[in-house]
Amino acid sequence: MGTNIYTEPALYDAVNWWKNNDIQFITDMADEIGGSVLELAAGTGRLAIEIMDKGQSYLGVDSSQEYVEYANQKIKSKGFDGRVILGDMRTFSLPNTYDFIFIGFNSFFHLLTNDDALACLTQAYTHLSNQGKFVIDLFIPDPSFLYKDENKLYHVTNFTWPEDGSKGMVKERNHYNDETQINHIWWYFYKENMDDPSLFEFDMHMIYPDTMDRLLTEAGFTIEKKYGNHDKTPFNEESDYQIYVCGK
Ligand SMILES: C[S@@+](CC[C@H](N)C(=O)[O-])C[C@H]1O[C@@H](n2cnc3c(N)ncnc32)[C@H](O)[C@@H]1O
Repeated sequence: MGTNIYTEPALYDAVNWWKNNDIQFITDMADEIGGSVLELAAGTGRLAIEIMDKGQSYLGVDSSQEYVEYANQKIKSKGFDGRVILGDMRTFSLPNTYDFIFIGFNSFFHLLTNDDALACLTQAYTHLSNQGKFVIDLFIPDPSFLYKDENKLYHVTNFTWPEDGSKGMVKERNHYNDETQINHIWWYFYKENMDDPSLFEFDMHMIYPDTMDRLLTEAGFTIEKKYGNHDKTPFNEESDYQIYVCGK
């Protein structure tokens, strides 16, 4: 049995060192919209720091106690005002509305049923100001990834272990259940000169664009733009991403 992937925030940052293709898109959106920003599933504050660095007011919500503490330490160490609070994106309730609400880096796929997804969208709708924008950024589920050989390990990334700077590597295997559309993923974290990897696990609920359209509409949103990449290329059948910009 592996460890929940969302318990070791420093390791998350170390492994996701390469993830930066969404920063400009999200900070530009925050800048264009202006006003207050709310991020759901804010994680270690990867995007929070970039948004606050541009002078925007920011609040994040995340369900991992460890990640919330780590994100707040990071935010404080930079001298920023914002913070991340512990909460569930399906049920959170805040006294204010926000002008820009977003869910970045595939985090919406951690809602494992359409009912959970709809509950989250409904909360986002309730917390969005009348002129505000809501953005979700997801990859397009890829059959060649979902239906890989379950007994084989596939290379994910190389990284540097945060505690001692030694070389690391992540390999993965997965099991996709096409009834529930849940992809269960095992990540094996290797360390140089050590035989046994550490095992982490997580689930991702694959949601395709037609279902996203339906869920967003059902929650009351108007889909104003749909991009296929962070450079704002319009969405088409060849797109790697499904990025929704919605209003009320
Ligand atoms: C892929 S990480 C993304 C973190 C961050 N948004 C980023 O871009 O780096 C996914 C995050 O979703 C959080 N998460 C998963 N389920 C959640 C839920 N129901 N409510 C709030 N956060 C959740 C996890 O704790 C984790 O921090």
